[in-house]
Amino acid sequence: MMRYIAPCGVALFGALEVTHRSWKRHFAFHTAECSFKDVKESWLGTPLEKLNRKPVCCMQEPSLRPSPDHTVTVKFDRLKENTVPIPHPDDFIDRWDSLHVKMPYSPMNLYPVDDRNGGRISGSRWKVIKNSLENLLGIRHPHELKEAILSYNVSYARKWDFTALHDFCMKTLDEDERTHFFKSILHEMIALTLKLPNLCTQPIPLLRKGKNHSITMSQEQISCLLANAFFCTFPRRNAKKSSEYSTYPEINFNRLFEGKSPRKAEKLKTLICYFRRVTEKKPTGLVTFTRQCLERFPDWDKSTKKLRRLHITCEGTIEGNGHGMLQVDFANRFVGGGVTSLGLVQEEIRFIINPELIASRLFTEELDPNECLIITGAEQYSEYTGYSETYKWDRSHEDQTARDSWQRLTTEIVAIDAFHFRNHIDQFSPDKIRRELNKAYCGFFREGIQPENLSAVATGNWGCGAFGGYNRLKALIQLLAAAETGRDVVYFTFGDKELMREVYNMHKFLIEKNQTVGDIYKLLVSYYHKECKNCSSRPEMKLYTYIYNYLKH
Ligand code: APR
Repeated sequence: MMRYIAPCGVALFGALEVTHRSWKRHFAFHTAECSFKDVKESWLGTPLEKLNRKPVCCMQEPSLRPSPDHTVTVKFDRLKENTVPIPHPDDFIDRWDSLHVKMPYSPMNLYPVDDRNGGRISGSRWKVIKNSLENLLGIRHPHELKEAILSYNVSYARKWDFTALHDFCMKTLDEDERTHFFKSILHEMIALTLKLPNLCTQPIPLLRKGKNHSITMSQEQISCLLANAFFCTFPRRNAKKSSEYSTYPEINFNRLFEGKSPRKAEKLKTLICYFRRVTEKKPTGLVTFTRQCLERFPDWDKSTKKLRRLHITCEGTIEGNGHGMLQVDFANRFVGGGVTSLGLVQEEIRFIINPELIASRLFTEELDPNECLIITGAEQYSEYTGYSETYKWDRSHEDQTARDSWQRLTTEIVAIDAFHFRNHIDQFSPDKIRRELNKAYCGFFREGIQPENLSAVATGNWGCGAFGGYNRLKALIQLLAAAETGRDVVYFTFGDKELMREVYNMHKFLIEKNQTVGDIYKLLVSYYHKECKNCSSRPEMKLYTYIYNYLKH
C-alpha cells in the first residue's frame, strides 16, 4: 500500500493529504528550468497581480436557469452550498435518437441474450451490464474485469486488448494496492456506474457542429458518466469510422487498457486517483460545457484595436499558474485528443488531471474552424511531473479554486484546436493566419462582456508542438486575437527563455510604434508576399527581423 509514496508521503490509494507544492518543484520536473545564464528575470511585462482573474474581475453570472440553448440536468432551484445537486427530472427520460447521447440504460439498447429454449433473443443490454459488473464484486484478477467488459461488447472480443490493464494490476500495483483496488475502489466504481438511470435522468443533447448550446451538469453526474466510460458501457461508440459517431471523440476507455506503453500505467494511476476521490467523497459542484460557434469574424486588416497588456514567463504552466484566467487547452478538433489512447501532451495531460473534461467527449462533435468548447468548473484531482514520455502521476491534488454562484469552480478552460501544419511555410499564408486568428478569437470572445470583466488569457505555445506551428508567429496571432476581444495575455513559454525575451521585445516595440491589430495583420500578410510566397521551406528572413526592418524607418 505504501509503494506509491510521493515525496510528501501520499500513497497512490492512501489517505489524501493536502499538498501545496510550490510550482518551482513542480516546474522543475516539467522541463529544464529556465536558463538564468544571461538575464535574471523569469518573467517580463505586466506583473501578474495587475491582470484580471476570476472571480474578482467578472460580473455576477445570471441565476442558473435552463433555456432553449442551455440544458441543466439538476434541480437548479434547489442548489445548496457544499451539498450534492439533485438530478432532474426524478425519473429518467429516454431519447434514443440522433440529437441525444444514447444512454446505456435505454430500453432501446438491445443485445442478443439467451432465451429459455436455448435460442437467442434481443434483450436489455443494461441488464447484461448490471449482471456482469455485479458479478465482479470480489474479483482478484484483471482477467475477470476484461471478461465482464467483453460480455456486453462481444463483437470486440478479438479486437480489444487489455494488456495495459493487466500489467497495471499485476505489475504496477503491489499486492496491497491490488487488493485495495479490487476490493474497494473497483467496488465503488461499479456502484457508481450502475446509478446511471437514477443520476443521469435528463437526455444529454449532442453538442453538434454549428450548434451554440450549453450543458450544465453536476460533478457527481459526470463521475457516473466517466465510470460508465471506464467500463465501456456506452453503445454505438466503438465502431470505427463508418459509425454514426465517427465525427465524435471516443468515449469508452477500451484503448486505455491496450498495449504495453508505460504511459498507460501513469494514465491509469491518474484516473483511478480521480475515481477513488469521487467515490470516497461525492463532489458537490456543477460543470458547464458550452459549444460556441461564431458566424461573424473581424475584418482583421481594418481593425483599429491596440495590443493589450502582456505578462510573459518562462516558468510555470497554464494550469499551475493561470488560476482565474481563461486557460487555453491546445486541443484536437476531437476534444481530448488521445487522452484514452497514447497521447500525453498538453491537452491529454489536462484532461487526465481534470478528468471531468473527458465527459465532453461523450457529446461534443468535432470542432469546425469557427467553433470552440468552453468548460467552466472542471476540478483538478491530480498533480504530475514530467511531460509526454516522462509524464508521471505524482499525487492527489486538493483544488482550492473559488466557486461561483452556480457552485462551479471558477476554472474556465477553452478548447481551441490549432491547424496542424505539416509544412512550416504553410502557416504564413494569409488564409491560414486568418484561420488561426479566427479560432483564437472564437475561443477568447464572450458576447456582451466588457473588457474590464474579462479575465486575462493564460496560454502558451498553442499549436507549436504536435501541430508544428512557429511559436513567434502563434504568439503574435494570440496577442492580436486577445486584443480584438479585449483581453490581456499571460504567456507561458514552457522554459524557453529566448522566446520569452523575443516576444516581450516585439510586443513592446509594436506598442511603441503605435501599431493597431490591422497594421500588424497587414504586416504579416506583407511578410508572406515578400518572404514566403515563393519559398518551399523556411523563409530566409525571420518574421520578427522583417517586422523590425519594416517599422524601423
Ligand atoms: N502549460 C503551458 N505550456 C505548455 C504546457 C502547459 N501545461 N504543456 C505544454 N506546453 C507547451 C509546450 O511548449 C508544447 O510544445 O505547449 C506546446 C504545444 O503543446 P502541444 O500539446 O503539442 O499542442 P499542439 O501543438 O497544439 O498540438 C495539439 O496535441 O495534445 C494533442 O490533442 C492534442 O492533437 C492535439 C495536439
